[in-house]
Amino acid sequence: MNDAAHLLNATSGSTAAARRDPAREAWRQQRLGMEAAEEKHTPSAVTTRRHWFDFNQMLRVFGWGLRLCGLYERGIRNALDIQLKRMELGFANLPAEFDGFRILQLSDLHVDFLPEPLNAALDLIAGEEVDLCVLTGDYRKRVSGPFEHIMPAFEKLLARLRAQHGVYAILGNHDCADMVEAFEALGIDVLINQTRTIQRGQGQIHVTGTDDVHYYYTDAARAALDGAPKGFKIALIHSAELADVAAEAGFSLYLSGHTHGGQICLPGGLPIITHLSRHRRYASGLWRHGSMTGYTTTGIGVSGLPVRFNTRGEAVLITLRRA
Ligand SMILES: [Fe+2]
Repeated sequence: MNDAAHLLNATSGSTAAARRDPAREAWRQQRLGMEAAEEKHTPSAVTTRRHWFDFNQMLRVFGWGLRLCGLYERGIRNALDIQLKRMELGFANLPAEFDGFRILQLSDLHVDFLPEPLNAALDLIAGEEVDLCVLTGDYRKRVSGPFEHIMPAFEKLLARLRAQHGVYAILGNHDCADMVEAFEALGIDVLINQTRTIQRGQGQIHVTGTDDVHYYYTDAARAALDGAPKGFKIALIHSAELADVAAEAGFSLYLSGHTHGGQICLPGGLPIITHLSRHRRYASGLWRHGSMTGYTTTGIGVSGLPVRFNTRGEAVLITLRRA
């Protein structure tokens, strides 16, 4: 059986399984409706996606401006210059068994726009053994249309990863409901407003992942955060737009992406556009909200234009420490 046929069969089986899960099927039908309506559901409003059309028109003009200035090629070189960012984060409430737990975060891969940054990231993480890999959304270039062409890149990614507790993924605003089954067929655990518990000896941590909240917010995302068990909790949410909700729900760590660190920034890394409707100050890097630590990665790939200025793409390797 060739790879495509295998994927097709696996996806069909998974679709049937998903349809036996009433909660997942209810989510899927709601999500498909929101995708078809091309609306933007944020925690504070429901609007059209007219801004996305306007933004892309603006980018087209900006791209020609870069070409005229001779900066376009330099921007592409910047976009291909990926780093592996390592950091240790300390938490007083981390169970002792999880001291040294390593999480690899890969975000905003947009693999069908520029594939090279993911290849560069794979080279950077080669040989790294991690405890958990989390994929925090935005896997393709477009916000609608087919996605099957990106799956080989994820097969390649999985073949190169060594993660003891596997790979969790959440959806971003570029991702569609039908991707879930295709990812699950590859062995990726897609968290849709769900929590997983990881046990080590007597200790445990909880990881809650929500659906995207930039285009597809529903109260189920908030309910998943509010309903997560007590203890050390990590939130995986594509954008930082639910930072306040997660902090109030007692999460210790919030991992997001979405902004690409601004992608095209002013000198000093100041983003011109964040695509955040809330918590814009959390557009990049480490931040605190109440007693919760957050990290917004600049991500691996790019969208709109294949360029970066004054911000660098990254894979992120976080080591949890009991502090
Ligand atoms: Fe993105």
